[in-house]
This record gives sequence, structure tokens and C-alpha cells, in this order.
Amino acid sequence: MINHTTEKIKNGSSTKRSKSSVDAASEGSITRRSFLHTSLAVGAGTVAFGLSANAKEDHGGPLTPQDAAILRFLAAAEILETDAWQQYNELGGIPDSEVPGGSGNPAYTAALAVLDSDMAQYIHDNTEDEFTHFSFINAYLMSHGVTPVDLDPFRTLPSSQATGAQQIGRLTNLMQLSVDTSWWTRYRSRTGNPDFGDSFPQAVPGLIQGQFPAIPRSDADLAPGDHLQAIANTAGFHFAMIEQGGTSLYPSLAQRVNHPEVLRILLSIGPTEAMHFQTWQDKAGNAPPLTDPTNGLVFPDLNSPPLGGEDFSTNLIMPEPTIFLDRKFPACSIVRPTETNGAAMGAVKFLTQTGLFVGQSDAFFTTLMQLAQAADGGHGPGGHSPGRDHNHD
Ligand SMILES: [Fe+2]
Ligand SMILES: [Fe+2]
Repeated sequence: MINHTTEKIKNGSSTKRSKSSVDAASEGSITRRSFLHTSLAVGAGTVAFGLSANAKEDHGGPLTPQDAAILRFLAAAEILETDAWQQYNELGGIPDSEVPGGSGNPAYTAALAVLDSDMAQYIHDNTEDEFTHFSFINAYLMSHGVTPVDLDPFRTLPSSQATGAQQIGRLTNLMQLSVDTSWWTRYRSRTGNPDFGDSFPQAVPGLIQGQFPAIPRSDADLAPGDHLQAIANTAGFHFAMIEQGGTSLYPSLAQRVNHPEVLRILLSIGPTEAMHFQTWQDKAGNAPPLTDPTNGLVFPDLNSPPLGGEDFSTNLIMPEPTIFLDRKFPACSIVRPTETNGAAMGAVKFLTQTGLFVGQSDAFFTTLMQLAQAADGGHGPGGHSPGRDHNHD
């Protein structure tokens, strides 16, 4: 719908075309669809004439409190994502002018490269993307007179002491993670959907049963080889865990935005999270089976029972079709979950459970929960998503 209108503007003679679409709509039957077309066309025409009274009206009117709250929660989520990715990039990515900070850790970078020779580049690019996500959303909020999100007071967690890491305060903890790997089986299931209350087995059960580093905590973690590889494998699964979360969060929240341009923002950023997830899912499948000699953490062969086989082979990186909305409909290849009720709080709860914020202050959790509650508005806890409490993974 929005693109349709945009095309009209791009095609030139925008005012004429907007006018004609207004006429067409008013002459025809007023369906919801034509009404929305008309509203958008009128808005676009106003911009083309330069009649906007102020910046808040340039893109179709002011933000509703709900729109602002959703964007503020997403800005916070993106700041947290960026903080995690920044730590990965310092040690295992490509520190450069696009993603400054850190100087790289060759041994860790080599262990990550076992999953794919381009891992460092992908880590760098994912990190840069996250920077642009929160920077854009905060700038957009400010353009509408809304206070941007600043989590700097909570940068209190320690950095890795390993060679290559900056020594600065962090928002996220990558050294005591309980990585949830159920996304692996969830996206391979042909019959289950977390929005129906279904739960999914872990691909790497050991990871969620303890606390494990996904980056070397110090240079002592660089040996023995299988220990360092276990850290890189943990990172490989954590990358996908984070990005599948973003893949679900955007469509979940998009269902509740009001302003067409805010919808456009969510629909335009969300799929980049899916691109990240897709990449990382492919790489996680290359994590070599091993047992960490220092703590017994096992990375199983994912192509063997209880997984493996037709539905679980590691090269099945596109979503298997599954039930959606109602069991009466045919299976559909979809992002899951996408239930909107309580989606922001569900994301906070999930990330907290996986250890990403171990060591954070009470004030941090209070701030994050307030942002989530505001974003969830009247759709907070108490919504009727079956199994929401245990399925937002
Ligand atoms: Fe992002
Ligand atoms: Fe992301």
C-alpha cells in the first residue's frame, strides 16, 4: 500500500496522480483499502506542495504514544544488540573505520573461521547494521520530538581481558551465556508453532544447562584447541539466537503501530534481522561436533539422531512450512513466533533468561522493563498468547 503510493510519487507528476487517485476513490465505493490509499495520497500530496506546517507533519502526522513507545523499545533492543555485536567484532570481526574499537584476536578469529571462512566479515557487517538500526530509530524519534533512548548509564559490565578487546564498560555479558538453541528445531518443525503454545527441543542441550563464554574471557581461554573451538561454536549459535529474536520482534510489534511511516520502518528493518538470522543459521550448522575438555560442554553432530534426517539436516536453513493462525489452514513457511501480545516483555524475559545481562543493575532491568511495558501497552502480560511464558524463544 505504501509502496504503491510511493511509486505514484516517483513516477512524476505526483500532485496530478495523487489528485486523480483521490478522485477515483471518492467516485468509487469507499472500501477500507481505497480509503487508506486516499489518505496516503492526500498526505503525499501535501508534502509535494510543501504545505506542511512543521516537521511533525512532514510524514503523515505526529507519532501516537504507542508508536513512540514501540520505537523506543526497539531503539533499546538495538542498542543492546549493538553492544553484544561490538564485543564480537572487537575480538572476532574486523575492527575498522566502519566499526571502530578493538584490534582483533587471531586465535578466536581462526576458531570462528572453522564455521565459515567469511565469519569475520559477516560479524563486522552485522555489527555495523545494528549501529545503524539504533542510530536511525533514535534520530527518527528526535525528529518527532520524542526523547531518544540512552542506555549509557548502564555500561557497567566488564570487558573481556583477552588480547584485542577494548577495556570499556559494557551493557551485555557474553561470558556467562546460557544459549537457547531451540530456534534450530523450531524453524525445522512442520507441525509446531510457538504461537500455538508448542515448545521445541534444544539443538545443543548442554548450552542452556550452564553458563558458557561466547568470547574468550582472557588469553587463558585461547587453549586448548577444543576449548577455544567450543567458545567459537557457542558464539555461532548465539549469533543466530539473537537474530532470530529480532526476526520475530519486528513483525510482532508492527501489528500494533499506527503511523504508516512507523510501519514502514518496522517492515524495512525487520527483514534485515531475518537476513542476519539466515546467514547465522547456515554457519551454526558448520560448528564441529566436540566436547570442551575444560567443562564437558558437548556440541553434538546435528546430522545424527536425535536430530538429522530429512527434517533436521544442517543444510535446511530456510523455514519449514508449519501451522499458522489456525490449524484449518494449509501449512505455510513463516517467521515464528509473531504473536503481538506481550512481545516486547517476552523479548526482555527471554534475553534475561539466556544470561545476556548477568551482572546488570536493578536500575537497568527496571528501565528495560518500563520500555517494554510501554511498548506492549494494553497488550502486555495477561494477553492471551498460548504458551507465551515459555515459548518466546
Ligand atoms: Fe538490529
Ligand atoms: Fe540484529
